[in-house]
Amino acid sequence: METFRLNDGNQIPKLGIGVNQVRSADVGPALAHAFEAGYRSVDTANTYLNEVAVGRAVRDSGLPREEIYLATKVWSTDSTYRRMAVAIDRTLERLGADYVDLLLVHQQYGDYNGAWTAMEEAVAAGKVRSIGISNFNHRRLTDLVSRATVLPAVAQIERHPYFQQREQKEFLERLGTVVTGWFPLGRGDRELLAEPLFAELGQKYGKSPVQVILRWHLQDGTVVIPGSTDPAHIRSNSELFDFALTTQEMDRIAAMDRNKRFHNLPELVERVIFQSMRTDYDKRQR
Ligand SMILES: NC(=O)c1ccc[n+]([C@@H]2O[C@H](COP(=O)([O-])OP(=O)(O)OC[C@H]3O[C@@H](n4cnc5c(N)ncnc54)[C@H](OP(=O)(O)O)[C@@H]3O)[C@@H](O)[C@H]2O)c1
Repeated sequence: METFRLNDGNQIPKLGIGVNQVRSADVGPALAHAFEAGYRSVDTANTYLNEVAVGRAVRDSGLPREEIYLATKVWSTDSTYRRMAVAIDRTLERLGADYVDLLLVHQQYGDYNGAWTAMEEAVAAGKVRSIGISNFNHRRLTDLVSRATVLPAVAQIERHPYFQQREQKEFLERLGTVVTGWFPLGRGDRELLAEPLFAELGQKYGKSPVQVILRWHLQDGTVVIPGSTDPAHIRSNSELFDFALTTQEMDRIAAMDRNKRFHNLPELVERVIFQSMRTDYDKRQR
């Protein structure tokens, strides 16, 4: 599996599988197909309520732990120094893991600076290899970076051809922060997947429109973590490393940006919802 180098010296696989909204019962089969197809990276989160199942699937794979890149996220209700320290230990217990490769603070709310300090300490304690952020706007990102000792190694942002976030991506790249695009397929949006340009390029390279989109992400320097429970999709989403788009083709896809996001809650609503969510993850996911 090809990797990107992170600003902390670690490597992250360019391709992983995301398990957002995948029920625990479906995680095992999906990850077994993924490992079989060559994936070595999984993206979960406390709020996906499937970390126990992810940990079990990793162990059941029989692959050495160090061959699998395990990423998870702690929710904003645990964004204080003390709560984050506890949340990290609980997360490791649910995953049945001694460490995670990547830990992200899931949202930009709460005392994210205090939470970040606890994350930095978790790196020093060997519980976490790399730390990063998810869904931070420019203002909160600059606030965090101005106080941090360790810069974010990875930032997850919504990203697909209709919503490319060029400025944010370039700012992150100046920090040496690798971008992971979530909703890389616009959450399977039919209009996006049916864009004639992807069919045209797919025909040229003997690839599907989805493979063309995922290849564009990779060549644009972003990690992709497409979500799927369909064995055929899981396999084909991994077949991205035997073709390359030209610069002109990359530019044509860049020109498709229409500033259209698929996750679109106003920030005030988001903050109220996100800060009042229950955090009883241990009981709710088995
Ligand atoms: N940091 C954050 O706040 C955040 C937010 C959202 C997501 N994420 C992460 O990003 C990952 C990816 O996002 P996502 O899964 O929500 O959206 P996505 O990857 O953009 O799209 C997933 C959808 O596309 C379909 N799909 C996948 N491969 C396909 C293929 N080859 N052909 C046709 N359809 C295909 C899937 O259906 P099938 O199952 O039928 O294949 C599913 O409905 C998540 O799993 C999660 O790990 C992070």
